[in-house]
Amino acid sequence: MAIEGRKILVGVTGGVAAYKTLEVVRLLGAAGARCQAVLTRSATELIRPESFEALTGRRAVWDLWTSDREARPSDAFAPETKPIHIDIAQSADLFLVAPATANILAKMAAGIADDLLTTAYLAATCPVVVAPAMNSFMWAHKTTERNLARLREDGVRIIDPEEGDLACGYRGKGRLASPERIVAVVREMLDRPGDLAGRRILVTAGRTEEAIDPIRVLTNRSSGKMGVALAGECARRGAEVVFVAGVLSVAPPAGVRVIEATTARAMAEAVLREGPACDAVLMAAAVGDYRPREFSGEKMKRSGPIRIELEPTEDILETLAARRGSIRVLAGFALETGSPEARGLEKMKRKKLDLIVVNRPDVPGGGIGREKTEAILLGRDGYREEIPLASKASIAARIADRVAAMLEPRGEDSAQANSRRE
Ligand SMILES: Cc1cc2nc3c(=O)[nH]c(=O)nc-3n(C[C@H](O)[C@H](O)[C@H](O)COP(=O)(O)O)c2cc1C
Repeated sequence: MAIEGRKILVGVTGGVAAYKTLEVVRLLGAAGARCQAVLTRSATELIRPESFEALTGRRAVWDLWTSDREARPSDAFAPETKPIHIDIAQSADLFLVAPATANILAKMAAGIADDLLTTAYLAATCPVVVAPAMNSFMWAHKTTERNLARLREDGVRIIDPEEGDLACGYRGKGRLASPERIVAVVREMLDRPGDLAGRRILVTAGRTEEAIDPIRVLTNRSSGKMGVALAGECARRGAEVVFVAGVLSVAPPAGVRVIEATTARAMAEAVLREGPACDAVLMAAAVGDYRPREFSGEKMKRSGPIRIELEPTEDILETLAARRGSIRVLAGFALETGSPEARGLEKMKRKKLDLIVVNRPDVPGGGIGREKTEAILLGRDGYREEIPLASKASIAARIADRVAAMLEPRGEDSAQANSRRE
């Protein structure tokens, strides 16, 4: 479906090439895209927002603190009562930043969210592409290199600047890529069917909570970040994602069907109902192993030591493995202390999984509830991949790579897969 009808959030920052972004927006509009411009304060010094408004037909925005609805885009993608940065970010199919200054690359790499554009970047779950433009010394600076490497690792697509005469009088690399090239990359990113297109994938995420009384729950420290990253990655790569959400500390990703299931029992019901019709089931949720045998309808009073008897919860993976339906990849996560790899292998065999992602709760610089972690992927087919400390988004991308490879049509699978695609 290419560009037509797609919503593109166009970030414009304080580079002298900002005027060229008008041509990018014109070309995108001519191809049928719906563009919404978001500028930085510095960009407004170099180009008037009204120019973007004339081309996009929408109010250009730059102020995070625009609470007055009148001052908000007249035709916002999602004209609801959400804060404006969530509104514009969550409704976009793609976020393009052109030109991207050295400053914005640094802020994006560091996660600084001190204006509308950078806050929208953090709130966006769609693909992000940046077209940097700057003086050649700024481009070659080690800090810029480091920031670009970080952004690449975070999944941001970089359109390298071109060599040539620069506005600052120097000659070298730093000119904004041509509007035609930028539009071609946008088109390619929106066009890409993704290696998981046509696949239905169920992903569970977050923690379960088992009530002790109306106030207290038995739970764990999982934030859901890994499962959210994994579901988002699968959706971006074209899969139809069924997202079974336990309790999450982060927002669910865009473009997935969310089923809330905050207890082990609810999660078992949802997974056993939806899972067998999926190509892959990726169980990233931290489902509690035990729940209180009895629920106290009244808040339990404090009166010396108490005993709470626990009973095991449903073993979702084991049950699902016994009635697989169309599932070709059943993947579990093993969060283990001690000897994680050996325990992970044992869990994979015992529960008849195809893939297991082994990690530890406490890794230096990461772990449960944190932004980063390390992991080992183990396959029933003998596959082994060690992923050193990395963002959960990059680990999710590696897991999705492996799932995509395992779903590739092979032997007798291919006829079945082909017929499903038709
Ligand atoms: C006339 C002028 C042109 C500029 N052009 C660029 C540029 O092409 N690339 C760049 O990285 N910074 C450029 N700068 C510096 C940025 O505007 C400055 O770093 C600013 O803080 C960027 O803010 P922003 O990233 O929030 O837009 C320029 C500054 C001026 C005054």
